[in-house]
Amino acid sequence: MIVLGVLVSGSGTNLQAILDAIVARTLDARIAVVVSNVAGAAALDRARAAGVDTVVVDHGAFADRAAFDAAVVLALRERGVEAVVLAGFMRLVTTVLLDAFPMRVVNIHPGLLPSFPGIHAQRQALEYGVRVAGCTVHFVDTGTDTGPVIAQAAVPVHDDDDEATLGARILAREHDLLPRVLQWIAEGRVSIDPPSTPGGRARVRVRGHVQAL
Ligand code: GRF
Repeated sequence: MIVLGVLVSGSGTNLQAILDAIVARTLDARIAVVVSNVAGAAALDRARAAGVDTVVVDHGAFADRAAFDAAVVLALRERGVEAVVLAGFMRLVTTVLLDAFPMRVVNIHPGLLPSFPGIHAQRQALEYGVRVAGCTVHFVDTGTDTGPVIAQAAVPVHDDDDEATLGARILAREHDLLPRVLQWIAEGRVSIDPPSTPGGRARVRVRGHVQAL
């Protein structure tokens, strides 16, 4: 059993997928707290409906990102959180959060990284004209969607897709992928190999059978 803290800003469908996976016992986890920087985020309603503790930390009330992150870390630590999930959390995080949970902060991104990082990944994919899009679960580092990739899932891009139709197709895969990766982490199967060459990238290793995604 792993104790999670989930950081959200919006609708919280990925949070819901985690909650559902816990109920379905496909994810051996407990969500100790859901933290939002947006007081009206629908994700908070989902947490409350599931009986999960919620905390709002208004980023506007802090001098800088580091001070905001310190308040978030406090809320997470007070509740015994072991790993942090960014599930539609629309703030860049600092080393204050990352150092508090080394290689224990995971993000879900609606694009096949390293293509199309940042916001509007689905729009970026359509504008570029790629034929395959998807989503990525990765460990978070100080860059924007640059951390070590844990898992990815792909979807086709159709000629008549718009941002909404492509986004919905990707989101459905996110809801499958994120709880699955969290279960791998809960099972202690996910590790990180240091770069094999100077200036190279750290790479994630997932032990055991990984079902085709
Ligand atoms: C998802 O597309 C996720 O990949 C991105 O933000 C969106 C959040 O959606 N980081 P939701 O709040 O989980 O519904």
